[in-house]
Amino acid sequence: MSLCRSVNMEQLRVLELYSGIGGMHYALKECRVPARVVAAVDVNTTANEVYRHNFPATPLWAKTIEGLTLDDFNRLDFDMILMSPPCQPFTRIGLQGDVSDPRTKSFLYILDILPRLAKRPRFLLLENVKGFETSSARDALVKTLKDCGYSYQEFLLSPTCLGIPNSRLRYFLIARALPESFSFQTTTEVLVAFPESKRGDSADRTPNSAPSHAPAPNSSKGRDEGRVLYKMETARDLEKKRCQDEDESVRRIQDFLEEEEEEEGGAGPGMGRYLLPPKTLLRYALLMDIVRPSCRRSVCFTKGYGHYVEGTGSVLQSCTDAQVETAYAALDSLTDEQKLLQLSQLRLRYFSPREIANLMGFPSHFSFPENTTTKQRYRVLGNSLNVHVVARLITLMVG
Ligand SMILES: C[S@@+](CC[C@H](N)C(=O)[O-])C[C@H]1O[C@@H](n2cnc3c(N)ncnc32)[C@H](O)[C@@H]1O
Repeated sequence: MSLCRSVNMEQLRVLELYSGIGGMHYALKECRVPARVVAAVDVNTTANEVYRHNFPATPLWAKTIEGLTLDDFNRLDFDMILMSPPCQPFTRIGLQGDVSDPRTKSFLYILDILPRLAKRPRFLLLENVKGFETSSARDALVKTLKDCGYSYQEFLLSPTCLGIPNSRLRYFLIARALPESFSFQTTTEVLVAFPESKRGDSADRTPNSAPSHAPAPNSSKGRDEGRVLYKMETARDLEKKRCQDEDESVRRIQDFLEEEEEEEGGAGPGMGRYLLPPKTLLRYALLMDIVRPSCRRSVCFTKGYGHYVEGTGSVLQSCTDAQVETAYAALDSLTDEQKLLQLSQLRLRYFSPREIANLMGFPSHFSFPENTTTKQRYRVLGNSLNVHVVARLITLMVG
């Protein structure tokens, strides 16, 4: 059955809350559901500039969600809510303030508005971090949905389940107003893969499923597995990465990179500005997650990428003739100058904002206003979402 038929042909009116740079809007476009964003709401000036630059025809309300009245919501007469509330209250680093964190206030306000709307929206999709599933905010959401007569399904999904070499494990909830039902059997379990649709849609493989994380049959087990070999990595870490890189159902990083003009050392003129500065190399060499263009993995890019190194995203080894093992050999015994000489063989660089956008599923026509700085680009991308994952969920929600 075509999506147009299953959503009654009419154009759905969509409200995009916490719209950021429009990841949800791109997902909606990608899944080709007949729909129109009737309002996008966000308070962040930079994100709003990027949104306006890419969606000049969409009404963008640069105000707080708590600043909208029930009448404002009713006037929009929407059929679908797409939203990514702030995730800091639910992350470990954000101290898990949950419902008592002031940043959750706007979300609780939405839950308060929902039962009072003149017309109940048919669909609702929420994205948040892993950790949300055990929060009181999640319990409040589920209670509101049940009270308002929705069926719902929760997920924990990463783009790797769609063959994208980037980990970004996120919580999602899709809801549909009864008596309409989903095309798949819902469960109270949090699903870690896209379900098989009863209406003929095919399922995908589980995120991070067997081939990418299971140890290879001949891997050397035993005492030495946890011992640091080089960098800060143990045999177990390296084995896991090797397995991920051999998983042919996931694409290679090179498919997502910007074209580089071949130049001495591999990093072309444009990309040279993304090379890691010496100070960063010296200070954080042991903590960086390094990937080569041929790899089939990268860690989640967060808003501090390009600024902080630890845990904010992978860096790229742009000179592939050099070996990480060699560059890192006996680093402890070297002077700073010698260390730099050795490490610089790898030509380590940050992924460019465009490359991160590619990995996050943003279309090639997505762009930034010229005055958006590189730091701002990393920041708003780090706050955004994987477009392809959300597109699959919207398709599943309305199908
Ligand atoms: C996780 S990001 C959403 C990202 C978005 N989905 C995207 O694709 O870029 C959360 C966004 O919520 C916005 N925000 C936070 N609190 C808000 C509030 N009370 N009212 C409106 N926007 C808010 C932030 O400015 C931020 O852009």
